Amino acid sequence: MDNRIAVIGSNMMDLITYMDRLPAPGETLETDKFDLGFGGKGANQATAAARLGANVTFVSRVGDDLFGPEVINNMKEMGINTDHIKTSKNTSSGVAPIFVDRDGENRIFIIKGANQDLKPEDIDEAAETLKKCNLIILQLEIPLETVYYAIDFGNKNNIEVILNPAPANSLDFKMVKKVDIFVPNETELADISNQKVNDLEDVKKAINKLQSKGLKNIIVTLGSKGAFVATEKEQLLVESIDINPHDTTGAGDAFIGSLAYYYLQKSSLVEAVKYATIYAGLSTLKPGTQKSYLSGDDFENRLSNYLS
Ligand code: RIB
Ligand code: NA
Repeated sequence: MDNRIAVIGSNMMDLITYMDRLPAPGETLETDKFDLGFGGKGANQATAAARLGANVTFVSRVGDDLFGPEVINNMKEMGINTDHIKTSKNTSSGVAPIFVDRDGENRIFIIKGANQDLKPEDIDEAAETLKKCNLIILQLEIPLETVYYAIDFGNKNNIEVILNPAPANSLDFKMVKKVDIFVPNETELADISNQKVNDLEDVKKAINKLQSKGLKNIIVTLGSKGAFVATEKEQLLVESIDINPHDTTGAGDAFIGSLAYYYLQKSSLVEAVKYATIYAGLSTLKPGTQKSYLSGDDFENRLSNYLS
């Protein structure tokens, strides 16, 4: 199948500080590592798919500051179609101060900036390009109104839609059930299913509830435990690879981007989850978000070590 993917979503500049621990209130700590990187869930997912070889169009907005042109440039270098990234006037680009501790766990603030300006009209303006895509990927760092509009746009034009409901937000289930593939983590699954999600049994219960209300395919990302995939035909846990993570920031986005790529490639969601679990796992070995995503060749070379 043709690998044309549209990502309608956010971009951020990641300001990453690596530290042993966070300072307590009133305390000053010194740490020696800081890194500026390209991030934002939409841009990260677009990058992962493009690195693997997908033909990606990114619909997004940057601010008219120092970061805006850099973000667009970076995406161009990645071979992503940037025709539909607009610049908002008198607005900052999205930024994300990120704190990574010695265990590779992160804490993230986001300041959405121009991402707030991404509106349904921006989708209309990109419509001709979007109609040529096989898949639309969405997350929640842009206005909900735009996310819902994109879901309807996909449905109307027979383009499959993947929704990654991150960061967590309260969603209208009437809209969520229109997506083809829903990919929450455990917290986001608890929110949408209105029940606690503490273990695999809870995950299954929540999935059954959502599927009985009309949602078809659900993939729950479980961090170091892997991912649980439920289609109309089967349900299974795909375990993550056995590694020592260095920086887990952006691993969820690596999962979504590679999932989209391999779903179009293999026409099987379960197969795609197996590849995406490995791709996301390997991204945690390197610092940063987009910087840590492997190219298609590098990934294929390492795959045989992990595919069972
Ligand atoms: O999912 C990771 C991303 O979340 C980071 O790149 C940061 O920009 C925030 O959007
Ligand atoms: Na990483």
